[in-house]
Amino acid sequence: MTKPQKPLPPLDYIPADITCAADYETLAQAFIRADILTYIAGGSGHDITLRSNAAAFQHWSIIPRLLRNLDAANTRTQLLGKTFQHPILFAPVAYQTLVHPQGEMATAYAAEATDSAMLASTLSSVTLEQIATRSHLDRWFQLYFQPNPDDTDALIKRAIAAGYQAIVVTMDAAVQAPSIRAIRAGFQRPDSIMAANLVQQQPQPTAQQASEQNDIFRRYQQHAPSLAALKKLIDESSLPVIIKGVLHPDDARQLKTLGAAAIIVSNHGGRTLDGAPASLAMLPSIRAAVGDDFPLLLDSGIRSGSDIFKAIALGADAVLIGRLQLYSLSVAGALGVAHMMKLLREELTLCMAMSGCATVADIKATVLHKTN
Ligand code: FNR
Ligand code: LAC
Repeated sequence: MTKPQKPLPPLDYIPADITCAADYETLAQAFIRADILTYIAGGSGHDITLRSNAAAFQHWSIIPRLLRNLDAANTRTQLLGKTFQHPILFAPVAYQTLVHPQGEMATAYAAEATDSAMLASTLSSVTLEQIATRSHLDRWFQLYFQPNPDDTDALIKRAIAAGYQAIVVTMDAAVQAPSIRAIRAGFQRPDSIMAANLVQQQPQPTAQQASEQNDIFRRYQQHAPSLAALKKLIDESSLPVIIKGVLHPDDARQLKTLGAAAIIVSNHGGRTLDGAPASLAMLPSIRAAVGDDFPLLLDSGIRSGSDIFKAIALGADAVLIGRLQLYSLSVAGALGVAHMMKLLREELTLCMAMSGCATVADIKATVLHKTN
């Protein structure tokens, strides 16, 4: 076996050969250590859902339109009663110092520079307070319920004190479904990279414990909020509560009734239940279940502005970008992430112009054609 090449150090300029946001995925191969890349790129199990996510976007094409008035055209969108300059957010992504020494701090700079909302993960490698010092725009805190309810409450209090504007509860990853690829590649998170928000708590389950099958139900219940706990959070929180990881229309309906402020249709980028449908495939029925006015976001598999356009056309108000964040971070730190976001926004704008959509609200299913 040939020894894997040492990853290149991050650049302090934007490489000349990046022509589209997805190029960062290709280039990142040289900038991320091989086993870490496998952990990031992989889905759970056999990558079935990971592949479905990418394929789902290819089932749709965008019909060009002519003679449309684009005088006041813009990419602005409304979410939670606020105006966002564009409908592209940074998904919560754990342990970002795995790919760049500045990790989440660099991503926060990029969010600020590109008018993008950032979702800070419970499992960030720097604290939520440190991230807050870098980004003054919209910041939402992604919450993983902790086995000890006091720990969960403490995280929420810290997020409120640090000025986060929403709590995003991720519901689909109460147990981490193993990635066969990452296990085979021997990926182990280096000891130096920790969930900085949780250092006061009991350590997270190790990979060894995580593979003990008979433990799965118990661990699921420790990490998944009960209906009562979620209701209590929604009823008592001073911040809007958004739920991430919804794929079934009935769950969406129930969460709306419970008082969720928004829902993120997501299969965690294919990293939870392998065999789950593509997020995009479930979006139209979830939109139908919650009605036209309820805020819906989508992630999983987005690699281009045309993917974003299709997600909006099928019912999303906005989208989240996961892996492209890490890929661009690894190549050129904050500069790379900001550049990737700029490219995505330009790619979306191009689709809007050529399909005659002057606003995000004009992007409807009628501009799409189902190809197969
Ligand atoms: C994630 N995701 C994630 N989600 C979450 O709610 N909390 C988290 O800490 C993480 N961490 C995380 C780490 C890594 C390495 C990846 C790839 C993903 C899921 C993420 O928010 C998002 O749902 C997906 O990444 C979206 O799919 P794409 O854009 O990566 O295809
Ligand atoms: C993941 C966890 C951290 O997807 O959410 O790796």
